[in-house]
This record gives sequence, structure tokens and C-alpha cells, in this order.
Amino acid sequence: MDCIEVIGGRPLHGEVTVQGSKNGALPILAGAVLHEGTTILHNCPQILDVMYMIQILQELGCQVWWQGNSLYIDASRLSTSHVSAELGEKMRSSIILMGSLLGRAGEVWIPYPGGCVIGARPIDIHMDALQKMQVYIEDSEGMLHARTDGLRGTSVTFKSPSVGATENILLAAVLADGVTEVYEYAKEPEIIELCNFLNSKGAKISIMDNCLRIVGVSKLNDSEYYLMPDRIVAGTYLMAAVATRGCISLNNAPVLQMTEVLNTLEHMGAWLEYEEGVLKIDARKAELPVEKIKTAPYPGFPTDLQSPLMAALCLAKGKSCIIESVFEARFKVTGQLNRMGARIDIDGQEAVIHGMPGLKGTQVIAPELRGGAAMVIAGLAAEGRTLVQNSYFIDRGYEDISRDFRKLGALIQRKSIL
Ligand code: UD1
Repeated sequence: MDCIEVIGGRPLHGEVTVQGSKNGALPILAGAVLHEGTTILHNCPQILDVMYMIQILQELGCQVWWQGNSLYIDASRLSTSHVSAELGEKMRSSIILMGSLLGRAGEVWIPYPGGCVIGARPIDIHMDALQKMQVYIEDSEGMLHARTDGLRGTSVTFKSPSVGATENILLAAVLADGVTEVYEYAKEPEIIELCNFLNSKGAKISIMDNCLRIVGVSKLNDSEYYLMPDRIVAGTYLMAAVATRGCISLNNAPVLQMTEVLNTLEHMGAWLEYEEGVLKIDARKAELPVEKIKTAPYPGFPTDLQSPLMAALCLAKGKSCIIESVFEARFKVTGQLNRMGARIDIDGQEAVIHGMPGLKGTQVIAPELRGGAAMVIAGLAAEGRTLVQNSYFIDRGYEDISRDFRKLGALIQRKSIL
């Protein structure tokens, strides 16, 4: 079993560079399938979810190879539009291949999506939008089978701003016949990144405040794109600095996408400075609780940083409250934190965190990706040894969390135990 061992209780200090964005990379890789040619993605993170997506692209017939941190995708020839259950079920993002394969091949077989178990995660918004574009969807022996005689532009208003559904319809609309307009779309930076990437390939997408407007084109072109850094990874490292009362510098932190997170850290007493691409945090006095914070779609506080924030708040001086409004089952980490001496009470979508003077290292389990990162943060702050089991969850989104925290002075290593 893969584990991460942490000997905690040392304030973090030093400097680390933020990797490329996971949630930016995955839809871009799906987008590469739309084009009968080559796409180069620079600064692509070498994480498990990207590796799964690469395996799917290869299964579809793409040639994919790395040169350093640059990923080359030659999608000149596809041999199938069938995504196997074995690979597709490994991650939620496989569902966005529906839009791109419909655009490229007019047909797709895809399993119901997997990914982190943080709620029901339905796909009705994706399906409703695609059906409006003349896509016929049926269940075929436990797989989704979607086909179209030609994607047609349409106007669609989402009932709520789903990130994945926005990506799916964008990918489907790029090569569709006519104009597609999407209202109430998700405004996460990863959506803007996907639009910019697709436009660099010759798509015609206009980003307006209330609407995404996509004018269908007949083909795309070869392109190179430099991927933005990962705001959630940057936020995770900042939360770790706060939990350990450390001082760290992040190179390449996407501060403009992190306003709500940085405001929260300042509110806790952290001192922040951004100069020439480097974000510095001095968290030696970051000990104040947060009276009430609610996760929300961008630009609100990201649900993906809710667990890392919770880990940091376990050590605040006083009582904090977090309301999770995006996913209904995203407090799984609390039981694990409580095992380390935290005091967190859950009532529905509300968590009350009673700050404690310290945590104690012990054996815990990463419940999912960001919850796993939160357990590492708790381990860094705790007295003694923490063993975080199921660390493969963390590898889905972090290139090497142990490597990065070692650069920040932590005693942390990967371990395999029988
Ligand atoms: C993406 C991110 C994930 C992040 C989330 C919210 C990726 C790979 N994952 O996930 O890290 O936490 O955005 O910022 O980019 N919903 C429906 N019906 C649908 C689709 C969604 O009801 O058809 C609901 C979901 O259950 C959830 C909410 O809408 O409650 C937001 O989900 P969505 O924005 O779609 O998240 P993902 O794309 O799955």
C-alpha cells in the first residue's frame, strides 16, 4: 500500500514552484482529440489523472509522448471512439471526451464517469445541453452511447454553473454547425484556459460576462500552448504554511485567480506579498479563526481548498465554521482529522472547527484527493509521526507532494507498506 510518512511539528520555510494545472490540463487533452493533427502542451503536470487521460487518448489511437514537461499529442488518426470502462471509470474528467469525440467522430461509447467520491456528481446538465445540439444518448450495457448526425449550434442556459458541463458543450460546439450560446456557464479560470487553448487552435469562442458564444468552424490547426499554474496546488501549500506557522515563497502562483483564498489567509493573520511572479507568505502569526466561510463557484472560495483550509483551521485560536455548498459529501476528512486530536463537528453541510493547541501524529487514510492533501498538511503540523495511507489519491492531482514539502524543509517521504 502506498503511504506518505510525515514527521511533523516543523514550520515550513523555503521556496517551491507551482506545477501546471490539473483541471486546466484535462479538458485541454480532451480538446486535442478534436484536431486531426498535433497539439503540444507545455508545463503539463505529470500527475496520475493526466496519465490516465493519456492512456485513454492512446486507446483512441492518438500518439502521445513527453519531452520534459511538454506533452505532444498527435491525433491525426483515431482508431475508435470507444472509451473503455477500465480507464474511463478511473476519473470524472473522462466524461468531457463525450463532447470532443462527438465533434471529431460523431459517436462515442463512454462509461459513466468515476473520480473522487465527494457527492452524487450527476451528469444531467451535460446530457441536456448535448441533446439540444442534436445528440442522441442511450444506455448501452452500462455504458453511455451518444451519437449525432451532425452537431448543431444551439442556445442553452444551465440550471447551475457546472464546470464539466461547460467544458463538454464548449468541446462539442467548436466544430458544430452554426452558433452555440451558453448562459449561466461556469466561470472558473480553467474554463477560460480551455477557451484560450481552443482559440489558439482556430476555434471562434467569445467570452462574455453572461454568455459563451461559439461560432462553429470546419477545422482546427496544429498549436502549442503553455498551461497555467495550478491554483489549488498553490492554495494547498499556502494552507500548509499556515498550519505550520511557516514562511514560504511560491514561484508561479496564479495570484489573480486566488483573491478569495488570499483574503481568507490575510484574515487569519498571514502576511502576503507578491512581486515579480513570487508569492511570499509569512504565516508565523496566522492563528485567527474564520467566523464563517462558504465554498462557492468561482470567484468564491473553491470547494477544492475546503479540506486543506479545514486542516489549517484545526490549529487556529478559536472556533471556525465552513459551509460546503458545492458538493454534498465533502467532509469525509473530518473523521481522520479528529483521529489526530482535532475537534470538528458536522451538521449537514456545516462544519464547526474548534481550534486546538496541537495535533498528534497517527495512522490515517486519505479519503480522496484534496482530503488526502489535507491529511498531509495536518501531519506536517502535528507532533510526531503521521502515516497517510491511500496516498495514490494525492498523486491524482499533485506531481510529488513529498518532494515539494521536502523543498520547504519538511521531513516527509513516500513509503510502501505491506
Ligand atoms: C470540477 C473540478 C473539481 C471541482 C468542481 C467544482 C475538474 C476535473 N474537476 O468538477 O475539481 O471541485 O469542478 O469547482 O475540473 N452537477 C449537477 N449536474 C451535472 C453536473 C454537475 O447537478 O450535470 C452538480 C454537481 O453534483 C456539483 C455541482 O454541480 O454539486 C458542481 O459540479 P461541477 O461544476 O460539474 O464539477 P465537476 O466538473 O465535476
